[in-house]
Parts: sequence; C-alpha cells; structure tokens
Amino acid sequence: MALFGFMGVGKTAVGRTLSERTGLEYVDLDSEITRRKGKTIPRIFEEEGEAGFRAVEMEVTREVAGRNGQVISCGGGTVLDPENVASLKRNSVMVLLTAEPRVILERVEEEGDVRPLLMVDDKLGKIEHLLNARLPRYLEVADLILDTSEMTPEEAAVEIISQIGDVDSA
Ligand code: S3P
Repeated sequence: MALFGFMGVGKTAVGRTLSERTGLEYVDLDSEITRRKGKTIPRIFEEEGEAGFRAVEMEVTREVAGRNGQVISCGGGTVLDPENVASLKRNSVMVLLTAEPRVILERVEEEGDVRPLLMVDDKLGKIEHLLNARLPRYLEVADLILDTSEMTPEEAAVEIISQIGDVDSA
C-alpha cells in the first residue's frame, strides 16, 4: 500500500505503525531520496531547485513502486506527477491521509524547518493555498481516504488495516 497526501498529515508516523503491525516492509520515499543524493531535502531544493528534486523523486518512486509487500510513504508532491501515480498504482492500494490546515501547521512546526515549500512567513496561508490546489488531484488518485486530524498514528493504522482487509496484497 502507499500512503500519500499533504505534508504533516501523518504519512511517516502512520506508515511506520502500519509496517510494525502488518510486518510489511516500510519505505519512505523522502528518506530514499535523501540517501541516494547524500543530502537533505532542503539542501537538494537549494542546490538543484524543485525540478532537481522532482527528477530524483520520479526515479526513486519508479524503483520502489516496482516491488510488492511494502508500506510506502510518499512525499506530499509525489502523486502530482501522473507517471509516479501510474508506477505506484501497479502494486499499491492508494491511501490518502488528510488533516485540517491548523493541524498540519502544528505538526510541521513541531518537526522544524524540513519543508522547503513552507519556508515562508505566512505558513498557514501557504498550506491552505497549496492544499486547495492539490486536493482535486489527491482525491482523484485515492482508493481510500482517512482524516487523521483527531487520530493517533495507532488509531489511523488500525482503521486502514480494517478497511483494506487483505493487507498482504495491498
Ligand atoms: C513536498 C513534501 C515533502 C518533500 C518535499 C516536497 C511537497 O514530503 O517530499 O519537501 O511537495 O509537498 P512530506 O509530505 O513527507 O513532508
């Protein structure tokens, strides 16, 4: 299965919990990108621009998505590219996580400055704007949708497992 959706909706935390509970391998696309490039995501944006980041993201997505039996956490922008969606949909049920903008803001602020796209003064405004622009695409790609605003990662993982049923082939 692949977890996707906006920054701060819990893709990493829920993905790790799902992996622990199901025994499926956990793969985080942002971490794979960081490992491959040998630098952090803010650094990739700084040195190679967003286009440079998206190019590696596509390479990594294609490779990871070709394997079965995983819980994949995507980056917030991964599914904006139709080629990435096509790769992911071949082997994965697509689980969209959502959250209220104010909850997203709280979560990303707790994690510090790791999101180049949110390094602006009006973070809430930027979150609302980007989220509105992306939501139609997110909804189009989703097989299953879960609002995590009021949920712990454990609660979200349990809900996803119960909705998917046969997780081994998800
Ligand atoms: C991005 C989200 C980030 C990361 C990059 C771009 C986006 O991932 O891939 O900063 O376009 O929304 P998270 O959603 O895991 O923060």
